[in-house]
Amino acid sequence: MAGLFDPVRLGALDLANRIVMAPMTRSRADDDGRPNALLVDYYRQRATAGLIVSEGIQPSIAGKGYARTPGLHEAGQVAAWQPVTAAVHGAGGLIAAQLMHVGRIAAAANRLWGTETIAPSAIAARVKLWTPEGMRATETPRALETAEIAGVIGDYAAAARNAVAAGFDAVELHCTSGYLPAQFMASGSNVRSDGYGGAAINRIRFVVETLEALAEAVGADRVGFRICPGNPFNDLFDEDPAATHGALLDAVDGLGLAYCHLIDMTVPQVVDQRALAAAHWHGPLILNESIDQPRAEALLTTGAADAIAFGRLFVANPDLVRRFREGLALAPFDAATLYAPGAAGYTDYPAWGPAPVRR
Ligand SMILES: Cc1cc2nc3c(=O)[nH]c(=O)nc-3n(C[C@H](O)[C@H](O)[C@H](O)COP(=O)(O)O)c2cc1C
Repeated sequence: MAGLFDPVRLGALDLANRIVMAPMTRSRADDDGRPNALLVDYYRQRATAGLIVSEGIQPSIAGKGYARTPGLHEAGQVAAWQPVTAAVHGAGGLIAAQLMHVGRIAAAANRLWGTETIAPSAIAARVKLWTPEGMRATETPRALETAEIAGVIGDYAAAARNAVAAGFDAVELHCTSGYLPAQFMASGSNVRSDGYGGAAINRIRFVVETLEALAEAVGADRVGFRICPGNPFNDLFDEDPAATHGALLDAVDGLGLAYCHLIDMTVPQVVDQRALAAAHWHGPLILNESIDQPRAEALLTTGAADAIAFGRLFVANPDLVRRFREGLALAPFDAATLYAPGAAGYTDYPAWGPAPVRR
């Protein structure tokens, strides 16, 4: 039976082990959405993971909602990602770009170029975001016209092509946490009367068409997607998330995608996420959320997952794979520096080793 240190194939990706680094926004890119030398070090330090899923990357200007998040929508960003992916590959790792369009979860003060906020419907999220000017309410979005939707999907596809040009091995579509794809799927944020709203089969259409466009752009076996049915984060509400996500998984099960990345979190409307996924998805599965090493091994040996994603453990343990393998102690992370600029709390967590000698 497979364990954490056994290789696995997810679509076109040959992982050296089944330890995936979960996507984590860390807000260290430059204001123009370009990654810099800090990101090169950060990802290189963690490249012994079988697969790194990058922080959320905006596929367009309108997709940016938070401070200092990186993009993949202009040539300078593509060039600036190349040293990051090269560093990961040089250390023997693989890296997927997580494509994250925030939709209505945006504050104007976090956008260098200024742009309007768009979403399926003109319903504001009751959420405040950190901005350099203080906490700000998210804006009331403008509802996308039906004729505009193909352009938004096209932005995702262009970003996926840019990701490959930048050296990424795959792309992951962020479909949870209250961002644009989740806004389309949820009845509380989507009251459209066209083919993208109404019944679940219509509300999933944006996500299905985006995944199809990504597959067309870079090959289905280099496309993953992340879901967490019923996740209320960012003021999201769907009347029946199990039915909506069941329909989504049914619709994309046959596309030959690289993996489904499931946040296995019990929420009031969905008590058993894994059972839901098992009933509708037959491709490779990555599981995440508050999983420690013993539970990860149990999930793998029972065949419940093909790989396990760890988020917070990777923050302060860049060499998490070695620490798991050798049973070494795990370091705690500093919450105050999760999104703060600079190297502190980002690239200065040491790998395991003897304490430095003070002279
Ligand atoms: C600082 C931080 C930033 C995060 N940013 C993202 C993100 O950009 N995209 C995403 O899908 N999840 C994001 N997450 C969620 C993580 O990927 C993961 O689901 C979560 O930390 C639970 O896994 P864990 O218990 O192993 O930490 C973030 C989590 C943290 C702690």
